[in-house]
Amino acid sequence: MIQNIKNTFIQKFGTEPFIVKSPGRVNLIGEHTDYNNGFVLPAAVNKAIYFAVGPNELNLFRFYAIDLDESLETAVDQIEICSVHWANYLLGVIAQFVKEGHSVNGFDCVFGGDVPLGAGMSSSAAIECGMAFAINHLQQFEYNRLQLAKFAQKAEHEYAGVQCGIMDQFASLHGKINQVIKLDCRSLEYELFPFNMTDYQLVLVNTGVKHALASSEYNIRRRECEAGVGLLQKYFPEVMSLRDANMEMIREHISEFPMNVYKRCSYIIEENHRVDLACAALQHSDFETFGQLMYQSHEGLKNKFEVSCPELNQLVEIASGIEGVIGARMMGGGFGGCTINLVERNAVPLFEKMINEKYQTPEGKKPQIIEVVIEDGTHLLSITGA
Ligand code: GLA
Repeated sequence: MIQNIKNTFIQKFGTEPFIVKSPGRVNLIGEHTDYNNGFVLPAAVNKAIYFAVGPNELNLFRFYAIDLDESLETAVDQIEICSVHWANYLLGVIAQFVKEGHSVNGFDCVFGGDVPLGAGMSSSAAIECGMAFAINHLQQFEYNRLQLAKFAQKAEHEYAGVQCGIMDQFASLHGKINQVIKLDCRSLEYELFPFNMTDYQLVLVNTGVKHALASSEYNIRRRECEAGVGLLQKYFPEVMSLRDANMEMIREHISEFPMNVYKRCSYIIEENHRVDLACAALQHSDFETFGQLMYQSHEGLKNKFEVSCPELNQLVEIASGIEGVIGARMMGGGFGGCTINLVERNAVPLFEKMINEKYQTPEGKKPQIIEVVIEDGTHLLSITGA
């Protein structure tokens, strides 16, 4: 794939590119907590977007999306939201450098990869982070990874219209092989925890569905959480986000909480706690406890945060009945995409067989099974001739 992207670049543009690899991510636990200033536990994985990039002297950005066989060309001084969906992730990143006062010089770019789209593995973050990393390298701007992650997140807010947190972009850029990242989304400090995969395998199962309300409901959840903060702030001015709240505070003023806001807030408080417990379990290689916390996370996402869907629930239900499955939950924003399953290595064939046999949707969707390995974050693969 990398060779194909590189050769296509040379054929199209006639120069030698440098190559950036930018991975998708999984999240072990800590869902919807990032934009509440809480904790998450993601990792970068072995599904990635690859970029071949090189400068041109044309004052143009020339992009080719190899998997779609589509091109886009823009003058360097005409960066704005466009009607080509995929291009916005790239243009949105360029716009961030421009907003910082830089002039971004013309370049050519061929990109493509194997992060499944709409599966909740953050293909969009992989694209944004790869682009940010490539521009930073090309013009030697020397932004650090955290700054690049913030640019990538802003691109998503401004050019894709999703008010996402920082988790996906942070994970894509900061991933480390065989380790998960416990990120404090308030301080943006992080700690790496070893995730020993000798006896276990992480397996994603893609439902094959992405319900249309995913991004609108995402933005609604954000507002519901903010409403909870607003209610608490009247009595506890120190509560700046749900990270600062606890259940006693909510119980004291429960009569003021609309049911949906109460449910959202209590889920977030519990989920933050689960991330702490999960990290403690990892320190003792206690995967059984870790798995139980994954199941509890799913219950919360289904019943309290209400971002799951029948397909995801069905997959978790099937997984929980298979011997050797330690934990399972929906992953990412919800309303489709995939589940993440922690499976004993020798039970993986049985797991895959059972999922294939039992998963059923009215439209006859087939589950897509993706075994993932934890890898390094966005990096340069080759600088030959760049
Ligand atoms: C999406 C967003 C992330 C995060 C998750 C839910 O992936 O991009 O910022 O909020 O949903 O945990």
